[in-house]
Amino acid sequence: MRGYSEDVLGDVRAKSDIVEVISGYVALKQTGKTYKGLCPFHTEKTPSFVVSPEKQLFHCFGCGAGGDVFSFIMKTENVGFAEAVKILADRAGIIIREDSEEAREERERLRALYEVNEAACEYFQRVLMESPEAGAAREYVRRRGVRDEIVRKFRLGYALPSWDALLKALTASKIPREALLDAGLVAPGKDAGGYYDRFRARLMFPICDAQGKVLGFGGRVLDDSVPKYLNSPETALFKKGRNLYGLHLAKDAIRKESTAVIVEGYMDAIASHQHGFDHVVASLGTALTEDQARIIRRYASRVVIAYDADAAGAAATVRGMEILAGARLDVRVASLPAGEDPDSTVRKGGAEALARVLTDARPLIDYKLHLAISRCDRGTVEGRVSAAREAAMVLATIKSAVERSEYTRRAATELEIDPNALGKDVEALVRAGGARPGRPGWGGRPRVAVRPEESGASGDRNAASRHTKSEDDIARSGEMMKVLEAEKMLLRLMAESGEVRRIVLEQVGADGFRDPGHREIARAIVAEGTMSRSGSGTRAEAEGGAGGDAVEPTRVMAALDNEETRRYAAGIFLGQAGEGQGDPSRMAQDCLSVLREHSLRDRIREVERELASLGGTGEMERSRALLAELGSLRARLSKEFQPFSGIG
Ligand code: GTP
Ligand code: MN
Repeated sequence: MRGYSEDVLGDVRAKSDIVEVISGYVALKQTGKTYKGLCPFHTEKTPSFVVSPEKQLFHCFGCGAGGDVFSFIMKTENVGFAEAVKILADRAGIIIREDSEEAREERERLRALYEVNEAACEYFQRVLMESPEAGAAREYVRRRGVRDEIVRKFRLGYALPSWDALLKALTASKIPREALLDAGLVAPGKDAGGYYDRFRARLMFPICDAQGKVLGFGGRVLDDSVPKYLNSPETALFKKGRNLYGLHLAKDAIRKESTAVIVEGYMDAIASHQHGFDHVVASLGTALTEDQARIIRRYASRVVIAYDADAAGAAATVRGMEILAGARLDVRVASLPAGEDPDSTVRKGGAEALARVLTDARPLIDYKLHLAISRCDRGTVEGRVSAAREAAMVLATIKSAVERSEYTRRAATELEIDPNALGKDVEALVRAGGARPGRPGWGGRPRVAVRPEESGASGDRNAASRHTKSEDDIARSGEMMKVLEAEKMLLRLMAESGEVRRIVLEQVGADGFRDPGHREIARAIVAEGTMSRSGSGTRAEAEGGAGGDAVEPTRVMAALDNEETRRYAAGIFLGQAGEGQGDPSRMAQDCLSVLREHSLRDRIREVERELASLGGTGEMERSRALLAELGSLRARLSKEFQPFSGIG
């Protein structure tokens, strides 16, 4: 699977003890059965990162990261599954021979790409330093004030004004033309079989990954011709929105300050570093993505956006900032003087000028308020009213009530309107949008309906009941939360005990789980349970445990084909409940009874809905049948279950 045989994977897994591997990255302390440390995936002061040697899983109770030893390597080294296996195999001294053809080819292709990029980078550098034809480029670099040591650090280069200088130089050193084509450094020409250099007469900026390996290039013209910048096309290595320019040079400083500064352009990043701002990276003129947010999250908890005024206010940029905030980064926005970018700011005002801009950066919410307000004409009553409306929408998104009222007060002062009136509008918006219950269970993909699914047409039993609708919603979301908790507990118990697996299969089956993700995990546990029973002696036998026939969580994880599901499953398996709380079968029965009660209530709701939708005529038969069913359902409910806790 995924390019490696089960044998190889099993071997690598067996020789990669998760505690040993993670200890290479994180200082771990033993606490009882598990190890704890500071999570490497988010910034924290008290350890919420837990590693279980018994289950061979990790999970962070702070940021939700989790998985097995492969997931850990994928996340920390920012590599795919195949590469993670390779890293662990190398570490354990396992030589992978049974590689699938595909995996080997893929790795070979990437290796070749890295090699071409590195060779091209060295070539461009040499040309900039030495070529007599690069005089204008050297002069350009000097004029823009870039010092030699920075030229070397960022490995700047020059592509000659020639159609085939790079092509000739690299093919002469035995690099195949196909590899240059793959790397996007040459393009097929009009003549059959001909190729020409993509970058000509441009100052070259290599774009690297976090380790400093060259992924692609940006090239700038020396004059004002267009396009000003040309980038490598997307290749197997170079993916738009997946990297940040200068990260390999900035990551240590970003970690140290727990802050990353994001600028727009190559020259902005370079000039910043030259003036001692080592924690600066560039987004290269594209909107920020979730991948980039995740990368930053690994090193920092705060990010300062330092774009020029036009770019910062652009809708796409604001969305990008929200993506960063969504990754739980503290996002600040620096305002540069009109018409300036960080490069011109340090050039004119020195390091102090940029330092001032960065320290004056304001919280994202503040910035968004400012944007909303400044769009309106505050000279007129209508303008102020619409500014207030815009501001209220922004304010209503603030979660903390204290913060919300604080910002509301400030906005009202700025708009010269009554703070109480604005506050009322804001709270009304909060109530309208905020009644949604927090998503229980796992976030991300669409999941079980927490809200009722009726579209209104047939929903209401009668007009008088309409106002109780939202109470209904809330009751139901409480019920759904209980169901999801019960399902999680069941999954844990199923992993620990064969008896529980048997009970679950008998009573509801793996498909009886309400949440699609839970269903997937349940199926994997059942499959693994069946396999390890028929297989030879499992490692789990040594683990005592009530059932004595626990499945290995890592093997269940391996059967899940989506990283998100694996992360979620790790959280479940490492969850605290379950352990030492009594008889697993009894606990399972309790969980199952929650599920049964829910499906009973669900059916009742369904029947009620259908009854309400039936017209009076010609449907007497159906009505009678439904009423009969409803009666017996209600009887069963009150006989078997107490009223649903806390509601009605
Ligand atoms: P300088 O003029 O060299 O100072 O560049 P700059 O970084 O100030 O440029 P600008 O603010 O115009 O653009 C910011 C970033 O957007 C650049 O660094 C590039 O990454 C990108 N960019 C700008 N123009 C182009 C273009 O024509 N094509 C592409 N692909 N990217 C561009
Ligand atoms: Mn610039």
